[in-house]
Amino acid sequence: MSDFHLPGTPTAAKRVFASRLALALACLLLALPAAAATKQARQPFHDDEADAPYKVWDSTPAITMPPLLLDVSDTSVVIEWMTDGDSDGSVRYGEQGLDRTAVAQHEGLVDVGTFHRVVIEGLKPGHTYQYQVASRRVVTVKPYWPERGNTVKGEVGRFTTLDPAKASTRFAAITDTHEKVPRIRTLLADIRKTPEDFVVHLGDTVNYAVSEQQFKDVFLGPTAEELGGTLPMLYVHGNHEYRGAFARQLGIYLHAQDDRFDFERDAGPVHLVAVDTGEDKPDDTNVYAGLNDLRDYRRSGLVRFGQALAAERTRSAPFTVVLGHQPNWGWTGGDNAEWTRLANEAKVDLFIAGHVHRFMHIKPGERGNDFPILVVGQDQVARVEADEHTLKVRVTDSAGKLVDAFTLERRTK
Ligand SMILES: [Fe+2]
Repeated sequence: MSDFHLPGTPTAAKRVFASRLALALACLLLALPAAAATKQARQPFHDDEADAPYKVWDSTPAITMPPLLLDVSDTSVVIEWMTDGDSDGSVRYGEQGLDRTAVAQHEGLVDVGTFHRVVIEGLKPGHTYQYQVASRRVVTVKPYWPERGNTVKGEVGRFTTLDPAKASTRFAAITDTHEKVPRIRTLLADIRKTPEDFVVHLGDTVNYAVSEQQFKDVFLGPTAEELGGTLPMLYVHGNHEYRGAFARQLGIYLHAQDDRFDFERDAGPVHLVAVDTGEDKPDDTNVYAGLNDLRDYRRSGLVRFGQALAAERTRSAPFTVVLGHQPNWGWTGGDNAEWTRLANEAKVDLFIAGHVHRFMHIKPGERGNDFPILVVGQDQVARVEADEHTLKVRVTDSAGKLVDAFTLERRTK
């Protein structure tokens, strides 16, 4: 082994110098790929990296469904959009600028597909945020050196989180759009004329679920377009979403953030309790051919309904409003009266439902209920406006004609 000779330097000193030089070179060589990896880890989804060390094709995704805001809460929102080919999904967002990023991923792996769903958490109640979706093409997912493409970015949009401390709120509800795109467009365009905090869809978006393409064409796409990426939607599960070959896959498109179809939200003086009223016929009905098993699911839903209504917020909120698809709670396996009893006991102020396809105002006492049940018709919009003292309901048809209007006063709880 030969020494690394430096003229005029003692041999021992030369060895020390040489070993330090070698160490420094090694560190430099090790640092180069590390620095490159860090750069990629920090900003992998926003810049087309033509000089990336992996193969990048000149292929850019197209956004085929603009962003739809779902399941807004006081601190979070779900943003969904679609692209024409396999891509990742990320959202840049912030109050003053797009200074934060949320990525669609599961268990540490970035989601790759044509449907993108990002949950943004850690927001402040009642604050308005800017956001921009982005999707970068994924050409092939090989175990090493997957091949990528370019990034498409959506328009910069805005949304406002719910604010439980706000003195008032207003929202609109529609239902049973049943694949009729002109109906969705007419009703949502009407809703956009007034400054609502959010819109509720009370279920039965489809007759039965066939495929992602069908669901995009008859519900997600037109809904996203009409809501303009700025008005959030709360979705309530209908019985028709239980039907069809694609029904088992609908959850990722429609679930609330905890992967369920029942949830609670607080908007100003209104405490909302959304329930999944399931199917409208018993599990053993022949048309289901033994493929429905809702009995236990509805029993656990009843337990969660009781827990939600027992929460302190149900007593402290000026108004508690239940949102559900079927006004009679659907097929429960025999527990229908128990659902009503729990709602009565919690002094629920209003139950808003759909399913019947025509307007009904079921007054307190008519079905054992201590609260009014508003059944929204198929081509109608129900608008709810509440402050700390009164809750006003106004129902209009698709031509804007008044169908019903009533006011509820705050009750002692
Ligand atoms: Fe229905």
